[in-house]
Amino acid sequence: MAYNLLKGKRGIITGALDQNSIAWKVAEKAHEEGATFVLTNAPIAMRMGEINALAEKTNSKVIPADATNVDELTNLFTQSQEVLGGKIDFVLHSIGMSVNIRKNIPYTESNYDFYMKGIDVSAMSLHKMLSVAKKLDAINEWGSVVALTYMAAQRTYPFYTDMADIKAMLESIARSFGYHYGIEKKVRINTVSQSPTKTTAGSGIKGFGDFYDFADSIAPLGNADAESCADYCITLFSDLTRMVTMQNLFHDGGYSSTGVSTEIMTKLGIQ
Ligand SMILES: NC(=O)c1ccc[n+]([C@@H]2O[C@H](COP(=O)([O-])OP(=O)(O)OC[C@H]3O[C@@H](n4cnc5c(N)ncnc54)[C@H](O)[C@@H]3O)[C@@H](O)[C@H]2O)c1
Repeated sequence: MAYNLLKGKRGIITGALDQNSIAWKVAEKAHEEGATFVLTNAPIAMRMGEINALAEKTNSKVIPADATNVDELTNLFTQSQEVLGGKIDFVLHSIGMSVNIRKNIPYTESNYDFYMKGIDVSAMSLHKMLSVAKKLDAINEWGSVVALTYMAAQRTYPFYTDMADIKAMLESIARSFGYHYGIEKKVRINTVSQSPTKTTAGSGIKGFGDFYDFADSIAPLGNADAESCADYCITLFSDLTRMVTMQNLFHDGGYSSTGVSTEIMTKLGIQ
């Protein structure tokens, strides 16, 4: 059911790789809610071609940009305003990649070149986007920026390796930039801390399947799926959350507030 929550709003949505991507669902919902937007992803992701199907479905233009490259981001924000006919109202940062995770390198033996790459792609890219947008004055007052994160920023999940530190940095950038952008332009910046979700990035993590089931057994509502994450992001882009900024918001079916569940105790044979 659509509510026209984003009627007349213009956005930029990063990170839609395939139909499982959280960003893909956000794009579908934003379209249903009346927004117009540009889709973007790293040039290398374009080769897979799936984003074009989403662009067609949502009547959007695709503008490739490597989120680590300030020139490409400048082009993205400049061109997006031209294509959409005005300043931007919402931005989704849905970008994550760790070479250390991909290569199954244990946290204590992290490769530092890979570590730096992960920081640049998955955290500093948010800073770069915001800095470019601010310099160009590309985001409307009361505009909303949402970046996706994971609870490993607060608690240790050994298999999440360097991404835990990187997500902590991402959340900190949202707070720090949120202060400055809020004061100067009333732009709001939040992170949404999402349940384990079956996507390309998620499934690349060792033992993801088992952990997905574990989290599902802990959370009173079960794991939140990509579609409900998209619903939540839409509310954050809407005018109904105008005074929410600099927050890390858990979207996890109650997982983050639950110590243990009877379901897990039963599975362990304790109860
Ligand atoms: N899947 C999960 O379990 C889960 C849980 C919590 C948070 N998240 C976060 O959600 C976000 C989206 O991930 P997803 O699960 O939808 O997976 P996904 O693999 O579908 O999306 C990740 C995206 O990042 C893009 N990307 C990588 N390098 C880039 C670059 N240099 N420039 C621009 N884009 C680049 C990829 O092309 C891809 O589209 C990530 O930040 C991820 O950490 C995922």
